[in-house]
Amino acid sequence: MKALITVASKHGATLGIAETIAGRLRAHGIATEMVSPASVTTLDGVDAVLIGSALYANRMLPAIGAFAGRWDALLPGLATWVFVSGPLDSGEVDSIPVPKDVRDLAFRISAPAPKLFPGRMNPETLKPTERAVMRMIGAKAGDYRDFTSIEEWADGVAERLLETEPQ
Ligand SMILES: Cc1cc2nc3c(=O)[nH]c(=O)nc-3n(C[C@H](O)[C@H](O)[C@H](O)COP(=O)(O)O)c2cc1C
Repeated sequence: MKALITVASKHGATLGIAETIAGRLRAHGIATEMVSPASVTTLDGVDAVLIGSALYANRMLPAIGAFAGRWDALLPGLATWVFVSGPLDSGEVDSIPVPKDVRDLAFRISAPAPKLFPGRMNPETLKPTERAVMRMIGAKAGDYRDFTSIEEWADGVAERLLETEPQ
């Protein structure tokens, strides 16, 4: 069983989520590779693809659209999952609507409902324009990622994958 995780991250928060997911899949015995969206050159031998992105202006990063366009023909035939990181809030993230482009991607590749994880924002790492946007919308700096719930989600993915593995 082989999984590929491909993630678009501007400031490392979503990458950290992806690394945690990779760690859990490996703990379940699933060979897991992380490759950036632009660097994926083959899906030969890959059973599952997990696509992750940070959210900016209510959208995934463009690298994900480009990746999905490039692999459009193959992705619906594989086990796929989509996850995104965004909300700067540790509250009830399940009640926050998942952006349309994320839902559209999951639909296009026949993935289950996409998973939205809270994100992280450190104003010191942002460009001045990004910092201005954050100030304008009153976003609060902090790391809202919940690694227990990320691990639980990854365990669910692993269990699903192992269930479908031919004996
Ligand atoms: C300029 C800017 C715009 C953002 N827009 C959104 C947004 O529309 N929706 C959302 O949930 N989070 C938004 N965020 C929060 C980021 O998605 C969050 O910080 C994420 O975890 C960053 O991931 P990364 O470090 O992998 O880039 C925004 C952050 C910045 C700095």
